[in-house]
Amino acid sequence: MSASLLSLHAVSKNFGGLAVISDVSFDVPQGSRTALIGPNGAGKTTIFNLISGVFAPSEGEIRLEGQTIDALPSRSRIGLGIARSFQNIRLMPHLSVVENVMLGQQSRAGNLAGMLTPLSLFGRSKYRREAEDLLESMGLSTYPGEVVATLPYGIRKKIEVVRALVAKPKILLLDEPAAGLNNTETANLRDFLMTISQSGVTLLVVEHDMSLVRSLCDHAVVLNFGRKIYDGSTRTVQEDPAVLEAYLGTRQAEKTRNQAEADHVA
Ligand SMILES: Nc1ncnc2c1ncn2[C@@H]1O[C@H](COP(=O)(O)OP(=O)(O)O)[C@@H](O)[C@H]1O
Ligand SMILES: [Mg+2]
Repeated sequence: MSASLLSLHAVSKNFGGLAVISDVSFDVPQGSRTALIGPNGAGKTTIFNLISGVFAPSEGEIRLEGQTIDALPSRSRIGLGIARSFQNIRLMPHLSVVENVMLGQQSRAGNLAGMLTPLSLFGRSKYRREAEDLLESMGLSTYPGEVVATLPYGIRKKIEVVRALVAKPKILLLDEPAAGLNNTETANLRDFLMTISQSGVTLLVVEHDMSLVRSLCDHAVVLNFGRKIYDGSTRTVQEDPAVLEAYLGTRQAEKTRNQAEADHVA
């Protein structure tokens, strides 16, 4: 078993009186491709927000390479090697691809002047070259000058991932990277993420597409109502009784709600 890169230790998070995460512990092994899955509202994005420092845990501890990171602001966590892409695309649509990737370099600068440095007038700055090299190494060399808004959704998703890679992360958190992609785009994204993994970056991926989870990830953690209900291989996750119940339970609840709505309309 490889060493743990990131670990949660009895983490809880309450918003007001509401327990959103309850006593969750898990390890993300170094070099793994770990999936974080669970029904809508289970607390997956909240876990990402806790890891990246958007919120502090109400209880418990988060460690990177054995060191507690809970007292650190988000920016320092990026510096330590935790990068993230978001559930909804957060690219600047009117900037070019390379400019968007360069914005990822702000994380190394740390203040507003530093954040704008990569976009400054030094046209072919080292920042630009670095961003171009990274795009090329990820197979996106045809796009640097294109305005993001004009590109297909699947390409934009990849560019968002590349922007997160600019910070040279040890671990990359991906929140539903395949949402809205068709089958071809999803298969393409999977290969793309595999390449990133093979370059040594540990992946923690929130994803609903179970065939993507099974073909990409080796390890899965499942949440339901803010509690961990499974921690193990992706091969056996879909046979696990607690996981089945969580998903079927949700589907049953949805069915009941849809039925109630249909009755209401009728
Ligand atoms: N900032 C917040 N304030 C209050 N409640 C929140 C906040 N963020 C998330 N929640 C609640 O926490 C629960 C889990 O949300 P989330 O982590 O987004 O779930 P998931 O990503 O698994 O769908 C939801 O019930 C959501 O409404
Ligand atoms: Mg979410």
